[in-house]
Amino acid sequence: MQIPPQLLTQIDEAVSHYPVSKRSASLPLLHLFQEHFGYISDEAIQWIAAKLELQPIAILELVTFYPMFRRSPAGRHHIRICKTLSCALAGAAALKAKLCEATGVADLGHGTNGNAFAVSPDGKFSIESVECLASCGSGPVMMVNDDFYQAVTAEEIPTILSKYQ
Ligand code: FES
Repeated sequence: MQIPPQLLTQIDEAVSHYPVSKRSASLPLLHLFQEHFGYISDEAIQWIAAKLELQPIAILELVTFYPMFRRSPAGRHHIRICKTLSCALAGAAALKAKLCEATGVADLGHGTNGNAFAVSPDGKFSIESVECLASCGSGPVMMVNDDFYQAVTAEEIPTILSKYQ
């Protein structure tokens, strides 16, 4: 695994914020790795553990505990759709089915598959059902990468997807 100089600089900067306990830099480093590589590989876990002078299990347990960390590559644009009650009642499952149809992503179901996600054959999109995105009064709610969309309708899907090429 190649760590580019710019990422190394960001890593060292993050670690410098925790002079008493380097372990506290675990989550910031995991975010940096996922942002750069798209997911957290076994190699990344080993590298971060070595950097922070920890056993790899200390990093692996964070990756498996927090659902936002991925263990396999996502699409270039990752879509998260809330599957929690308010959004479910507002039609999130039907919205997800439409998004899957529009992107070519296999529909893994909505609500019963943990945080599993599927990637479109061209690698452009991936779609994941997630727990509450903290906008329960304006469902169905979804995110594309870091962009937030509320009260999304099926008619808006083409316009939203066209922003991500
Ligand atoms: S239930 Fe969907 S944002 Fe909270």
